[in-house]
Amino acid sequence: MSKTTGKTAVIVLAAGKGTRMKSDKAKVLHEVHGRPMVDYVMASASEIAGSDVVVIVGHQAEAVKAAVAGQRKALFALQEEQLGTGHAVMCARDAIGPSTRQVVILCGDVPLVRAETLRRLVVEHEAAGRAVSVLAVSLEDPTGYGRMVTGEDGALRCIVEEKDASAEQRAIQEVNSGIYCVDADFLFSALDKVKSDNAQGEYYLTDIVEIAVQEGAGAGIVIGGSAREVTGVNTVNDLETVRQMLG
Ligand code: UD1
Ligand code: MG
Repeated sequence: MSKTTGKTAVIVLAAGKGTRMKSDKAKVLHEVHGRPMVDYVMASASEIAGSDVVVIVGHQAEAVKAAVAGQRKALFALQEEQLGTGHAVMCARDAIGPSTRQVVILCGDVPLVRAETLRRLVVEHEAAGRAVSVLAVSLEDPTGYGRMVTGEDGALRCIVEEKDASAEQRAIQEVNSGIYCVDADFLFSALDKVKSDNAQGEYYLTDIVEIAVQEGAGAGIVIGGSAREVTGVNTVNDLETVRQMLG
């Protein structure tokens, strides 16, 4: 039997405005079959971490908090300015208890991920003994997602956002689901080193992969369950896709 040692906490990123939705409503509050997207994510989060879930709120913080708190037990951390996914995770630092061994990071706009997949992510992460594990899938059309860049040996080197990618990198079909399992100590020390010198001027969480590789702490890929599970909702079209996927 695989051992799951050490406590697992979850961080849910839900502070973004969702500019590409072209709506005033916070992105994670858009509904799929009568439930806000973030509630689907919270259901899986609670299954693997109980009440050790920290939700990062920012845009329409009170509305998002109310929607979550009405359904689940969770802590909230405020990201006052949305400076990127790396900055968002940093805002959870004080809410993550000292006994936490690893942190599973979820995006509030990736609603269909199953608890079973998250459990497998944690088990594979612990078995591999590395600092960072990224849940990735191969997509026929990788447009819009961060690409998983591997070396000639097949080992993960870094994640490149589409806006920062070369033509060659854009052709990579293996994408970042936005879901990770990271050793807690490594996570917060690595985030202190992340810079915002990229196309979007943001602090990218994805940069912790390159830091782990450079420092020899280890980063690797866990292959996700299905494309459906990791569909990210950035536009009204994506929301419709997810609605149809749920039938
Ligand atoms: C992100 C990943 C990308 C991945 C994709 C999967 C980064 C830099 N990129 O891109 O590699 O393929 O998710 O769906 O991480 N958020 C905050 N605060 C912020 C910014 C974002 O809380 O300052 C939240 C958003 O509300 C959202 C999540 O983080 O729930 C992801 O942000 P989003 O802007 O959608 O990132 P993507 O461009 O989709
Ligand atoms: Mg997104």
